[in-house]
Amino acid sequence: MNIVFDDITSETLAELEKTQKQFWNIPRVTGGLINMLIKLMGARHALEIGTSNGYSGIWIAKALKETGGKLTTIEYYEKRQSIAIENFKKCGVLDIVKPLQGDAIEAIRSFPQEEIFDFVFIDANKRQYVEYFNLIKPHLTRKALIIADNITSHSEKVQTFIDAVDLDPEFQYEIIETPGGILTAYRDV
Ligand SMILES: C[S@@+](CC[C@H](N)C(=O)[O-])C[C@H]1O[C@@H](n2cnc3c(N)ncnc32)[C@H](O)[C@@H]1O
Repeated sequence: MNIVFDDITSETLAELEKTQKQFWNIPRVTGGLINMLIKLMGARHALEIGTSNGYSGIWIAKALKETGGKLTTIEYYEKRQSIAIENFKKCGVLDIVKPLQGDAIEAIRSFPQEEIFDFVFIDANKRQYVEYFNLIKPHLTRKALIIADNITSHSEKVQTFIDAVDLDPEFQYEIIETPGGILTAYRDV
């Protein structure tokens, strides 16, 4: 059986899927996979880099509702962030979402030292993936999961990121052939 959401959430996700290309949203299969993994690991401190209109954020936040967690999500464009906030509200998850507007690199740099994440979803500027990875590492819990999208669709742009994960002995990773391709990296220290 596929996941069953309340009617409003199902309708909102279906509506957003009609404009998937315009807002560069993840495919539904990636949303479902992320949702399952968050529940499986019981993640409670999630970070998303690249909110867009909130499609992937809904999948993440719905899982966090079950684990008792919270999502911080970063988007550069104010207009997209406002649409995302409306979508989070509609789906009943805004109370556990902290939307940050601005450049992800600046936002991550401004996190206090004690801000920690056990789940990170990377889906913003492809050439900056490696910087997001390096900046977020000091904020990860000992057992943390990073998922990054567009690994096969934008392989050249994300190569430095793949290399950085590959060279890091703290991470076990696999690339999964979803549409666009995701890299899942498990920090185990
Ligand atoms: C691929 S879309 C995200 C799609 C979203 N994760 C989803 O599946 O619903 C990438 C988003 O990242 C944003 N973005 C790109 N570079 C950014 C940066 N440096 N800081 C913050 N947001 C950025 C873009 O404006 C865009 O909305």
